[in-house]
This record gives sequence, C-alpha cells and structure tokens, in this order.
Amino acid sequence: MMDKNAKIYVAGHRGMVGSAIVRELNRQGYNNIITRTHKELDLIRQDQVEEFFAAEKPEYVFLAAAKVGGIMGNSEALADFMYDNMVLEMNVINAAWKNGCKKLEFLGSSCIYPRMAPQPMKENCLLTSELEKTNEAYALAKISGLKYCEYLNKQYGTDYISVMPTNLYGPNDNYHPTHSHVLPALIRRFHEAKEAGLSEVTCWGDGSPLREFLYVDDLAELCVFLMNNYSGNETVNAGTGKELTIKELTELVAKVVGYEGKILWDSTKPNGTPRKLLDVSKATALGWKYHTELEEGIRLTYQDFLNNPMRAER
Ligand SMILES: NC(=O)c1ccc[n+]([C@@H]2O[C@H](COP(=O)([O-])OP(=O)(O)OC[C@H]3O[C@@H](n4cnc5c(N)ncnc54)[C@H](OP(=O)(O)O)[C@@H]3O)[C@@H](O)[C@H]2O)c1
Repeated sequence: MMDKNAKIYVAGHRGMVGSAIVRELNRQGYNNIITRTHKELDLIRQDQVEEFFAAEKPEYVFLAAAKVGGIMGNSEALADFMYDNMVLEMNVINAAWKNGCKKLEFLGSSCIYPRMAPQPMKENCLLTSELEKTNEAYALAKISGLKYCEYLNKQYGTDYISVMPTNLYGPNDNYHPTHSHVLPALIRRFHEAKEAGLSEVTCWGDGSPLREFLYVDDLAELCVFLMNNYSGNETVNAGTGKELTIKELTELVAKVVGYEGKILWDSTKPNGTPRKLLDVSKATALGWKYHTELEEGIRLTYQDFLNNPMRAER
C-alpha cells in the first residue's frame, strides 16, 4: 500500500487520464504528488528525464503521458506515434527503475490486442495475431512499454504493472475537430450543430461498429486500487464489459447535447474494427467495478466541455 505521504509522480497530469488520477489521489488523501508540465519536462528528452528522476526520486509513478489521437491522427502520423510513445515510455520506465522507484503503473490501451481477437478480449490474447493497421504504430509502442515493465520484473525483480483501458471519456478530454476520439468528437459536432441551427449532421461509417466506453474517473479509481493491490506481469483490462453500436452512442450524445436535427451516415468513410469489447473479469475478481453509467458520464463530460471553452479548442 502507498503511504499517504509517499512521493508519487503522475506523468501527464494535464491530460484526461493523468488529471483524473491526480483527482483520485487527492480524494484519497495522498499529499505528496509531484507533476511537471510538458513544457517543464519533455519526456522524450532522455537527459531531462534522467535529471528529473535523479533529483526527485519518486517512490511511485503513474505513467499517463503519451502522444494520443483518434483514427485520423494515428494513421496519418504512424512514425511520430511510434517514436514519441516508444521513446517517452523507455525514458520514464528506465529512469524510474534506475532511481529506485518502488512501483510503476503503465497506462496502455485496448488497441494493443489483435484486430480479430475473440470477443470479449482477455488479457492473454496479446500477441496472438495481427494488429489493426490504422493504429499499429501506437499499439506496437504500447506493447513495448508493457513488455519492458514485464522484463524489468523478470530480470531485476521490480514490481511494475500495466493497465489497458477501453475507450475513455470524461473531464479534460481532447475535442480537436480531427484528432480526437469518437465520443468527444461527437460532443463537439452536435454542440456546434445545435449552436448553428443545422438541420443535419453526417457521421463517419455506417454506425454499426460495437464499442465500449469507460468514464475516466472510474478508471482513475482502478489505477490507484491496482497500485495498492495488484502485482503481476500480465496486464489488467479496464472497462465496463458493456457495449453499444456507434449509432446508439451517436443518438445518446445528440440527446444529452440537445441536438434535434437529422443524423446521416457516410458509409464511404472507414468504420474501424467491427467490435471491441474487453473481458473485465480479472479487474472484477480483484474487487473493482465501474459505477458511472454512459448517459450520466456523457452528461458530466458535456458539462465540462461547456465549462472549459479553452479545452474545447486544444
Ligand atoms: N483517451 C482514451 O480514450 C484512452 C483509452 C485507452 C487508454 N488511454 C491511455 O491513457 C493514457 C493517457 O491518455 P489521455 O487520453 O489522458 O491523453 P491526453 O489527454 O492527450 O494526455 C496525455 C498527456 O501526456 C502529455 N505528454 C505527451 N507527450 C509528452 C511529452 N513528450 N512530455 C511530457 N508530457 C507529454 C500531454 O501533454 P501536452 O498535451 O502538453 O502534450 C498530456 O498532458 C495514454 O497512455 C493512453 O494510451 C487513453
């Protein structure tokens, strides 16, 4: 268990996941959290990362910093997604280990699993067949990060763990018009369509893919829980175990935002993977369960979007 005044470094604390982890740590009374903005510490710069860890020697690290993007961002910049994520992960995990960090938790993503993995996807389907091409570079970097944690555990007896969340949403999400994930992108589009009085909105694909969504505060609770209660080389999936079609999600977002126009589908645009559902029985058996239902979570997220006009532009 982490002591309430243990020195904890949250990497990526201004991002959606990192900020939720900081909120959860504060809520639970942890009082020695250290953070650095991207400007203060560029995690791609090995010299800066080594200097920071040597000076601060954090006892625990949550690695929630990453170069993150939607289908378009990922597929247009495969080289950048691989380089930035791979180098950032190796720098942070290696410097943590060299400076005696007791425990590190690495945040990955469900895109590490094969495109055609049996559904729902269990942790042990990792590396059993081909990855989805559109985010292969990102997935390979994430697999390298979790494997590096596993190899350090095996070679040097560290206690470094990893967690693989499904699609996340919540406060501090990225609402960029072309580089955001599906749920925040829909919030922005329907909000703007409502403001502009548009009679119809066209969405990508045919709406048939099935997806799962987890509210980020529920993930943050799991991250702190795992830091205190889980050790092991195999990753832990984080999700709700529930899925819906993109069409159903779209209708739900339109309802919460209050957009009453028509929703059209452009089936010349790609759908992405047909189905992506995580098997969350491992996290459940450890004693965790999500508690924010999707409609409530979208409502909270939309409120955050309205309260943070700058965030909506990032
Ligand atoms: N969002 C999802 O749906 C989702 C789903 C599954 C897993 N995850 C995982 O959760 C983690 C965090 O995702 P997120 O959604 O919170 O992303 P995010 O909101 O974009 O946050 C990422 C954070 O990392 C920082 N960062 C990026 N490159 C950096 C660098 N070179 N040096 C220092 N800081 C850097 C960013 O700072 P700047 O903005 O200043 O660059 C940002 O604060 C990722 O590992 C991701 O794979 C996310």
